[in-house]
Amino acid sequence: MRTPPTASDASRRLALSLSAALLAAPRTAAWSAAPERESSEPELVRLYDSAASQYDSLDSGPLASALGLQALRAQATDLCRGRVLEVGVGTGLNLPLYDPGRCESLTAAMRFADASFDSVIDTFSLCVYGRPERALSEMRRVCKPGGRVVLLEHQRSGGALGAYQDATSSAAARLGGKGCVYNQDVAAMARAAGLRVVRQQPALLGVVALYETVPV
Ligand SMILES: C[S@@+](CC[C@H](N)C(=O)[O-])C[C@H]1O[C@@H](n2cnc3c(N)ncnc32)[C@H](O)[C@@H]1O
Repeated sequence: MRTPPTASDASRRLALSLSAALLAAPRTAAWSAAPERESSEPELVRLYDSAASQYDSLDSGPLASALGLQALRAQATDLCRGRVLEVGVGTGLNLPLYDPGRCESLTAAMRFADASFDSVIDTFSLCVYGRPERALSEMRRVCKPGGRVVLLEHQRSGGALGAYQDATSSAAARLGGKGCVYNQDVAAMARAAGLRVVRQQPALLGVVALYETVPV
């Protein structure tokens, strides 16, 4: 697997700020039992800027690798081809994983015409967007017919573990101050946004999953 980049703190801040600026809006209810977060755009930028310096060591460090998250990132980026939009790019952990032979261009913003991209990818951000349903609709909108929207996300597992996630999601969302809502029904959200799930690969007892979806 290719090694993650070591971006400078300045570029990390920039990437985090840029992505945080895109979809800032209050979370509407419906998708989880967690309390609504009403972070303003400057607050989101401040939040993620302050998390940036520790982000890579937590999310691409030895623990992330041991949990298989790096391998899942590589699988997710391998599904992308053509003109690629990465949403919520963060510190750019996925950037060295794209195959330059298959991806003709990569960008990370959201003001695009309909059907602009062959692939749209979002990794571990749907759980923090204020309005994840709107983010998914936008991903669908900018994806070409026959293109792929690839999601690698935290999600609600089944059975007792899912119930545990429901019971702890408020506390978990407050952990680290990043507001990760880790008990969302990602498949239902994707379907509601007009995406058909063509492949779903659960990992880590189902609390993470890789989704390959197509616009319908
Ligand atoms: C947990 S990080 C994931 C980053 C990256 N995708 C990864 O896999 O490492 C969540 C990202 O979502 C971005 N974000 C949070 N709220 C946002 C919003 N409302 N609009 C746009 N981006 C947002 C943050 O700036 C951050 O980059």
